[in-house]
Amino acid sequence: MGFYENRILPHLINCACGFESMEKQRAKVVPAAEGRVLEIGMGSGHNLKHYDSSKVEFVWGLEPSEGMRRKARKNVEQSRVEVRWLDLPGEEVPLEDNDADTVVLTFTLCSVFDWLQALQQMRRVLKPGGRLLFCEHGEAPDADVREWQERINPLWKRVAGGCNLNRKIPSCIEAGGFKIRELESDYMDGPRFASYEYWGMAD
Ligand SMILES: C[S@@+](CC[C@H](N)C(=O)[O-])C[C@H]1O[C@@H](n2cnc3c(N)ncnc32)[C@H](O)[C@@H]1O
Repeated sequence: MGFYENRILPHLINCACGFESMEKQRAKVVPAAEGRVLEIGMGSGHNLKHYDSSKVEFVWGLEPSEGMRRKARKNVEQSRVEVRWLDLPGEEVPLEDNDADTVVLTFTLCSVFDWLQALQQMRRVLKPGGRLLFCEHGEAPDADVREWQERINPLWKRVAGGCNLNRKIPSCIEAGGFKIRELESDYMDGPRFASYEYWGMAD
């Protein structure tokens, strides 16, 4: 891993993920987490303050980037919920079948290389009756915005840590073996090509 990925990108991602509009989105999904929680791509730990510590036993923070785990140190220290790091990608979740009560997925699916395998792993480790809580940006409903997403994506991916602008989030989640039970979507603040978000719950 080069200097950009290890030192600069974690700083940029930490800043970009701290925007007020993203905090509002986190507050809509993360507090519903309960029991043994698996967070995929924990990044610098922006979700930690949104967990309800009276309902959460602990959080497995799966994060393959050492730079992001380093960036998370302060949020982990201040967290009211215990964090147990898993330093592997979402394609290789090192948990037993049916281990987690909740899987949390926020602003991460866009950058997971093999999103299908990762979602199948999430489905495998989620207990029957458990829930996937998600909030992800992805393909916009308007043709002109979609056109821009496709045009910009190749360059964007290279500078933004593999982030794809145009993933079809609900179809991806269902292809991974989940049934979406609650779904909302809308444009958030920011450029329209990067701000169409889908959030809800699947099982
Ligand atoms: C935009 S950040 C979001 C971080 C965090 N989920 C949040 O809501 O602030 C995307 C994160 O996904 C991580 N990531 C990239 N590829 C991944 C993979 N294959 N499996 C799991 N996480 C991955 C990155 O290291 C990064 O921390």
